[in-house]
Amino acid sequence: MTDQAQWFDVGAADDFPDGDLWPVQADGAQLVVYRDSSDYFALRDRCSHGPARLSEGFVVDGCIECPLHQGLIDIRSGLPRSDPVTEPVATFPVRVVAGRVEIAVAPVTPADAAVGACAGACGGAAIHRHAD
Ligand code: FES
Repeated sequence: MTDQAQWFDVGAADDFPDGDLWPVQADGAQLVVYRDSSDYFALRDRCSHGPARLSEGFVVDGCIECPLHQGLIDIRSGLPRSDPVTEPVATFPVRVVAGRVEIAVAPVTPADAAVGACAGACGGAAIHRHAD
């Protein structure tokens, strides 16, 4: 996380389904949140191998199975766990404050903005800037 990262509210903690993948938007970037009981993890919602939304994948043994070519990505670290994925997927710090899930997002790059551009069509959740 860079020192320029800001925290963004992505929704009520109880609204995230336990053990499932959930797409959200934060500062124009599309992310996927995974909830494991009281632990939350956030990754970029795009496979590092191709144009697949990880939020449309499946959870298999602590990994997200990409829906396009079935590569595995570790949910906690974003590291590739099986071919054809060879590059990591960005992960982001997550915290829960007063029952709200917040994700720290560094300033988005043009590539991030392009991924976020289809947010309306892809059904991400609304976000609100966290008031410090
Ligand atoms: Fe994800 Fe190919 S696009 S494994």
